[in-house]
Amino acid sequence: MKVAGRSALVTGASGGLGQAIARRLASCGAKLVLSGRRADVLEELASELGATVFAADLSDADSVRELAAAHEDIDILIANAGLPASGRLESFTEEQIDRALLVNLRAPMMLAHALAPKMVARGAGHIVLMSSLSGKAPAAGSSVYSATKFGLRGFAGALRAELHGTGVGVSAIFPGFIRDAGMFEDANVKLPRGTGTKAPEHVAKATLRAIEQNKGEIDVAPIALKLGATISGIAPELAATVTRKAGGDEIAAQFEAGQLDKR
Ligand SMILES: NC(=O)c1ccc[n+]([C@@H]2O[C@H](COP(=O)([O-])OP(=O)(O)OC[C@H]3O[C@@H](n4cnc5c(N)ncnc54)[C@H](OP(=O)(O)O)[C@@H]3O)[C@@H](O)[C@H]2O)c1
Repeated sequence: MKVAGRSALVTGASGGLGQAIARRLASCGAKLVLSGRRADVLEELASELGATVFAADLSDADSVRELAAAHEDIDILIANAGLPASGRLESFTEEQIDRALLVNLRAPMMLAHALAPKMVARGAGHIVLMSSLSGKAPAAGSSVYSATKFGLRGFAGALRAELHGTGVGVSAIFPGFIRDAGMFEDANVKLPRGTGTKAPEHVAKATLRAIEQNKGEIDVAPIALKLGATISGIAPELAATVTRKAGGDEIAAQFEAGQLDKR
């Protein structure tokens, strides 16, 4: 599906990756609806891009329903909103676990559930689900986050199979560490020397490619990280040992400290 002239709903559009995705889609001629909680940030971006704004707290089921009901005719859904939910399991309250599941997993599922049938009826549409390499490779300090991102991967692949032949595509994107803006940049984590990063624009470009070429899955990370995620899928114990020896626990502690305020 070409995005020019199509309508697209971007959740998490007030965040680092969402802003880059919105700019990219707008530059290709999409008509955008921007969502997030921070209406002031969304309004500023919307006036730059000629988009409209629909603020919603995605941890609230009624708000998710209202967002979907107001955009039944949307051609493209980019379910990008998410919170980092980093830290060891025992450091979470039950309420924080719930919020991570609601925002990162239930909201994308509810939006897809509400919007996909309308896309199918029109014979065209695309749904992009923003996962993470943490949705392919688990590590200490990401039990809650990984649960949501592995969940999104499974949801995306299965929904893609269900919608095969309907004209509606489903894609999952798996960013690694993204510099310059977004939840990794905000956390101020010092990665081991040589660990590569990508920019928000790379995620935006991958999102566009996912829609226009109907790709099932796209990793957005340097080759070494992609390889690590692949090995984790084939030999999880080996990957876990290598990650531990490379200082995984220390990095996990940095993420927990740097992202506590986003739980
Ligand atoms: N940055 C990375 O390195 C990286 C790597 C892998 C995957 N990802 C994924 O990429 C996506 C975007 O992340 P980012 O880096 O752009 O993070 P970010 O800058 O922290 O932005 C997160 C976005 O999610 C929205 N959000 C959070 N809680 C919400 C809620 N309760 N209701 C509605 N919206 C909510 C935020 O909007 P408000 O604050 O306005 O509510 C914001 O727009 C996430 O799904 C993340 O897991 C990021």
